[in-house]
Amino acid sequence: MATSSPAVATALLLLAAVLAPLAAAAAACSAADRDALLSIRAALSEARLGVFSSWSGADCCAGWYGVACDPTDGRVADLTLRGEAEDAVMAPAGRPASGVMSGYVSDAVCRLGRLSSLVLADWKQISGPIPSCVATDLPYLRILELPGNRLTGGIPPAVGSLSRLTVLNLADNQLTGAVPGSITSLASLKHLDLANNQLTGRVPADLGKLVMLSRALLGRNRLSGPIPASVSSMPRLADLDLSENQLTGAIPGGLGSAHVLTSLYLGGNRLSGGIPASLLRNSGLGILNLSQNALEGAVPDVFTPQSYFMLLDLSRNRLSGGVPRSLASAAYVGHLDLSHNRLCGAIPAGPPFNHFDAESFGGNSCLCGGPLGKCT
Ligand SMILES: *[C@@H]1O[C@H](CO)[C@@H](O)[C@H](O)[C@H]1NC(C)=O
Repeated sequence: MATSSPAVATALLLLAAVLAPLAAAAAACSAADRDALLSIRAALSEARLGVFSSWSGADCCAGWYGVACDPTDGRVADLTLRGEAEDAVMAPAGRPASGVMSGYVSDAVCRLGRLSSLVLADWKQISGPIPSCVATDLPYLRILELPGNRLTGGIPPAVGSLSRLTVLNLADNQLTGAVPGSITSLASLKHLDLANNQLTGRVPADLGKLVMLSRALLGRNRLSGPIPASVSSMPRLADLDLSENQLTGAIPGGLGSAHVLTSLYLGGNRLSGGIPASLLRNSGLGILNLSQNALEGAVPDVFTPQSYFMLLDLSRNRLSGGVPRSLASAAYVGHLDLSHNRLCGAIPAGPPFNHFDAESFGGNSCLCGGPLGKCT
């Protein structure tokens, strides 16, 4: 504690005074878990925030930053260290703290057999693989979040055996290999974020088995093959991001009838075929980005007074025909981009068209009117 400021020391003393009666009732840290934590710490290094400075003393359940235990048996239940946190301890001046941690995730983490949350997020420089034993030795895991690091290697193939998992977030790393097929056995999974890695292979065909899943974020990888039709039948899917991959084939027609879908990002792929009319008719869908694909045919003229699009980006495809007139009946269209297609004809007059500038319509075959100037 030699380096602590008096204010921090006072705060810790106060905290200790408040927690002392509780600590008396709670079981002290399991010696084996304490040992595992020390091995985990030995493989990591963090200088700026001093997150590990509190990791001393026999009882890892009392005051070790980021560690929480089950009070009945003293087993470590949570290990949560975030490099971009806004909590009072790490950001004393009310500033969001931003930390950097290097090193690797030690296999010792797999000895914390009662772990329910493992979060090592946004430390930017933690490298090496995700220990594969995480998938086999931590059956109580509900939350696994390791985003914003430099992790390499594959997603543990046995990840599907973590039957209690609700959140799997490995985004913003350098993970390679396929999305393990076993992922579709995670019956409790609500949030899957694997975005911005280097994953290859296909989107698992039976992703639709994940009936609890509400966010599936797989954008900015190197996935190929089709969008599985099974995603159309996911009852809770609200956000689907498959953008900036190498997906081919058509957009499944059923996706438009997905019940609670609010955002759909499919831009930057190699999708072909037409835009399913049901997608544009879906009044719950507020964000639709199909930009930078090879979609063709007309833009279905199926907008209604229930249509409410914060974002509708259909730019950089091969769409033909005219600007759909029914768009004028939409309740709201915040951002429209139909540029760089093969559209032709007059842009309808009046709202919402008069709110958009020429960039929304540029680079087409023979559009005119509205912001593009008079049709001759
Ligand atoms: C739509 O998606 C593409 C590809 O991901 C992206 O480049 C573009 O910025 C997105 N459009 C908007 C308006 O966000």
